[in-house]
Amino acid sequence: MVGGMKAAVIHQYGGPEVLHVEDVAEPTVGPEDVLVAVHATSVNPIDTKIRSGAMRLVIRYELPRALGMDVSGVVQAVGEKVTRFAVGDEVFASTHYKAPGTYAELTTVNEAFLAKKPANLSHEEAASLPLVFLTAWQSLVDTAKLQEGERLFVQAGSGGVGTMAIQIGKHLGAYVATTCSGRNTELVTRLGADRVVDYTQESFDEVLEGYDVVLDALGDDTLKRSRKVAKRGARLVGVSPGAPKRVEKYGAVLGFAATGMMIAGQMFGSRVCRGQKTRFVTRRSDGEQMAELARLCEAGAIVPVVDRVMPLAEIAEAHRYSETGRARGKIVVKVR
Ligand SMILES: NC(=O)c1ccc[n+]([C@@H]2O[C@H](COP(=O)([O-])OP(=O)(O)OC[C@H]3O[C@@H](n4cnc5c(N)ncnc54)[C@H](OP(=O)(O)O)[C@@H]3O)[C@@H](O)[C@H]2O)c1
Repeated sequence: MVGGMKAAVIHQYGGPEVLHVEDVAEPTVGPEDVLVAVHATSVNPIDTKIRSGAMRLVIRYELPRALGMDVSGVVQAVGEKVTRFAVGDEVFASTHYKAPGTYAELTTVNEAFLAKKPANLSHEEAASLPLVFLTAWQSLVDTAKLQEGERLFVQAGSGGVGTMAIQIGKHLGAYVATTCSGRNTELVTRLGADRVVDYTQESFDEVLEGYDVVLDALGDDTLKRSRKVAKRGARLVGVSPGAPKRVEKYGAVLGFAATGMMIAGQMFGSRVCRGQKTRFVTRRSDGEQMAELARLCEAGAIVPVVDRVMPLAEIAEAHRYSETGRARGKIVVKVR
């Protein structure tokens, strides 16, 4: 197909089987865009939630559409206003949700969201990092303002966000506690966790106390239970308020309304009970933070954790695996 490419697209919302790899038109390159030949992308739970239709009240897409928000690849062309990147540069990014999907042979990324790929990482490793790193960094650095010597509790330390949060916490000089199942204890310890709670053996809120900052990447009732683990005046950050589960249970409108009420209740409740500050963070694309990530990777402060690398042709299988909730770090999709 001339001017075409392969991409994993959805024509309708539904289970993993609605994802199909097919020929589609190349994305148009705007003046501030960089056209990237995608070498690798990764699966994030938000992709599976968009695919299922659970997010369609807040993330409005015209279908058919390629999914995916992480990319590592090589610059193929640049828009007329682009100044910082040139054809042939190796780059990586977490794209804006409105940008063309990254489960594709080509994608466009606004120059402001892009950075040079860390020199010491493969495209597969680099593609595993952007979205989860930005989420953890924006939670711990921008929102909680974690300081050296503070105590950080990371819920779900062996997942995509958790593996980044542990490493960022250690890089900033915090004491880090985390939860995971026993099979992942060795992994999170290797990443730097000082205290590991195997949630299949112990209840975190019965064995931890005195934390300054909590990052909850699990959802459920764990953020509320974390109030007990956190000090008076602590900062709590949630990144998974659980809208998709409520949408499944109550439908889109009631599901989002119930989530909004939960968020308000959580912020008010923690403030009243223990003078704690609870905030919810939504990852935003950011090229400067991507450049910081590249520096941290090259310095050895952040290492990728890749559970498995799958070809684009197996994207539906990659979504099925993500939805088990058992991925250890990231599921990477190799595109070329
Ligand atoms: N707000 C945002 O902008 C934003 C950005 C990124 C992600 N998120 C959300 O954050 C959540 C986590 O994302 P992710 O990419 O980190 O997910 P993930 O990689 O799929 O998380 C999988 C991990 O969760 C662990 N886990 C499952 N149940 C657990 C439990 N009860 N206690 C402790 N750990 C448990 C698993 O460890 P075991 O196998 O050992 O149980 C597994 O390693 C998702 O809901 C995602 O949508 C939000």
